[in-house]
Amino acid sequence: MGFRDDFVWGVATSSYQVEGAAFADGKGRSIWDDFCHTPGKVYGGHTADVGCDHYHRYPEDVALMRALGVRNCRISLSWPRILPQGTGEVNEAGLAFYDALIDTLLAAGIKPLVTLYHWDLPSALQRRGGWQNPESPAWFEAYAAVVAKRFAGRVHDYFTFNEPQCVIGLGNVDGSMAPGLMLPVRETVPMSYHIHVAHGLAVRRLRELAGDVRIGFVNCGDARLPATDTPEDIQAARESFFAMPQDPAMWPWCNGWWGDPVLLGHYPEDGLRMLGQYLPDGFEKALPLISQPLDYAVHNFYQGSRVQAGRGILPWPEGHPRTANDWPVTPDALYWGTRFLYERYHKPVFIAENGMSAHDAVSLDGAVHDPNRIDFYHRYLLALRRAAGEGIPVHGYLAWSFMDNFEWNSGYKERFGLVYVDYATQERIPKDSALWYKHVMETNGAAL
Ligand code: FCB
Repeated sequence: MGFRDDFVWGVATSSYQVEGAAFADGKGRSIWDDFCHTPGKVYGGHTADVGCDHYHRYPEDVALMRALGVRNCRISLSWPRILPQGTGEVNEAGLAFYDALIDTLLAAGIKPLVTLYHWDLPSALQRRGGWQNPESPAWFEAYAAVVAKRFAGRVHDYFTFNEPQCVIGLGNVDGSMAPGLMLPVRETVPMSYHIHVAHGLAVRRLRELAGDVRIGFVNCGDARLPATDTPEDIQAARESFFAMPQDPAMWPWCNGWWGDPVLLGHYPEDGLRMLGQYLPDGFEKALPLISQPLDYAVHNFYQGSRVQAGRGILPWPEGHPRTANDWPVTPDALYWGTRFLYERYHKPVFIAENGMSAHDAVSLDGAVHDPNRIDFYHRYLLALRRAAGEGIPVHGYLAWSFMDNFEWNSGYKERFGLVYVDYATQERIPKDSALWYKHVMETNGAAL
């Protein structure tokens, strides 16, 4: 048994990473515009002012997707392009861009899957405290309502938040990503609560206003792989995948903290013991809202760690394969991660991102050969197929990314795309992996 007949194969991108046109047509600034223009924050001083210029080149990008057999594309919407101040006045030109992009995708037979928040918070809202402000859930709800109404009948798949772990852990705890703050735990735990409530409000709005929709909340975080196949190691890996990290400063990376309230309607016990004191009084009353029914458990998997009973996380041996940005290559992340998510949440599992960075280059023959990426995808997809073959409902898989793009604080150094982008000319060159993945999608994985 392999992937189900209606398995969703596709690719993913995000607004800030590909669109460019950062200050065009009435778009407001986002915290990423500010971050990129603060010296020393992003590798090489790169900005995404132009990015892949997808804002202007989307017709040719969508045509290329179609030629490469893409049937599902996860995009995100730039909140400040739609609401320049974050709340209040709507920028019609911003909505018109997404009308055009979505209609072009649909006309090409490509289903758009839309993420509302892929990190580009309007700067105007950050000035009001961002996710620290107790009004932030209402801001997000109003934004979701604008989107839901506008795209009703055209968009049937939504994700509310992308990787809240990174929003808090990288944006507000270690400061390596926008808005670059280093806040203490008593200030960041309430932010997670605001994000959860914002999610619940948005789900309610989408179900009310957007017609027939499927909705997910996109988590991330390393998978845990048992060091051996003994029941003890498997149990240790399972527990570790959802547990609070030993070091309280690492709390944003706890999968249970983010997933349980949304999918089970309660916070995990170990999380409450460590962080409950920082939640606002009466937080329990919001749990029914936070846990509005969702259609799947969504996770972005790139890597995993090995766990042994009694010993915890083991280091990878010297020389273990790594991607260009130093992430270990761990294909079984897609088997164990998928399995553990299903066992806990009893929802179909949707992999909304997976892929690798390499320092790809154009060869003398004019092509971009990336056998390492093909091997990476091949191994990870075999592991996912193993999970599907054991009867775990796996809803879909989206490759990160359709094309090379602005990799946050690494700038353009890391290339994650199936399509190579020459940033000087904006030329697109499908890499070998794009042609390989086309065949995998067309055969519903039989080509693996
Ligand atoms: C994920 C992000 C995505 C991309 C990949 C490499 O954490 O969601 O935007 O940067 O990592």
